[in-house]
Amino acid sequence: MPLGFPPEGFVSGMAYEPRPGDVFVATYPKCGTTWMQYVVYLLLGGQPLAGGRLLGDVFPHLEEVGREGIAALPPPRLIKTHLPRTMAPFGEVARYIYVVRNPFDCVVSFFHHTRGFVKHYDFAEGRFDDFFECFIAGEVDFGDYFEHLLTWYAVIEADNVFFTTYERMKQDPEGTIAAVGAFLGLTGEMGPERVAQVAEESGFDRMRRNQDRWASRRPEGMPPFVRKGIVGDWKSQLSAGQVRRLLDALQTRTRGSGASDLWPDVVAEARAVAAGAGGATNAEAPVRDGA
Ligand code: A3P
Repeated sequence: MPLGFPPEGFVSGMAYEPRPGDVFVATYPKCGTTWMQYVVYLLLGGQPLAGGRLLGDVFPHLEEVGREGIAALPPPRLIKTHLPRTMAPFGEVARYIYVVRNPFDCVVSFFHHTRGFVKHYDFAEGRFDDFFECFIAGEVDFGDYFEHLLTWYAVIEADNVFFTTYERMKQDPEGTIAAVGAFLGLTGEMGPERVAQVAEESGFDRMRRNQDRWASRRPEGMPPFVRKGIVGDWKSQLSAGQVRRLLDALQTRTRGSGASDLWPDVVAEARAVAAGAGGATNAEAPVRDGA
């Protein structure tokens, strides 16, 4: 749990009973949560959030506000959670959107998140290499990336679950938005114009503006919350040894689940880097073969 979260929120949040109409956006941290939340909020008729307004007020984080905070929302309740499915309030009456991102980019984004959120972590001076060890050991917020993925991946065929990846959202934002709209039962209202409007409003360039809408302000010199928003940032951060270890973890931990095939392109690139064809070349994480 992030240090700033009240333990009661976590305990009572797990005990929340899903109600008809509830829409959960469930993710492991840094996998595109806020982006998907904003898409859902806009699709359901929310007005673009002006600076000074908080997405968390209309789409709160279950583990932060707890059961009472969620129960007090007007229906349809929009709920963010980072809980693995086995700990989350999961029931047939609610809808769940699960977004996952390749672990290579996730660990990089999570590192910047952890050093930037000084309210929640004591890691402002932290090094990527140390964070990487925590991540691969599952000793970061919300536990182990792979375990989290597997708990949700097990239910992706359920009618009330919509599963996608950050990479698919990047590749085809409009297609994803239309599919989310259909999942939410909005087919009638979802012409191409509406889809384009939501895509524009939730696009990276728009979401980069007025970032106080998404998260508390970072100290000077820290990257903003909506940071790079790309696929492949890992190539400038991970050493060849780190790529090899994460690739190995991805393959071992997801074997036989289908989740191992989610990122064929990223895995192919990672294999090439792990085999010695590249790796980070920046000063912070130079290539250290065998690291
Ligand atoms: P980076 O740190 O790699 O840039 P979460 O909301 O789960 O914390 O995820 C945050 C990540 O999603 C950050 O990744 C952020 O930049 C990215 N992101 C947020 N809004 C986005 C958008 N509209 N398009 C693409 N990426 C977005």
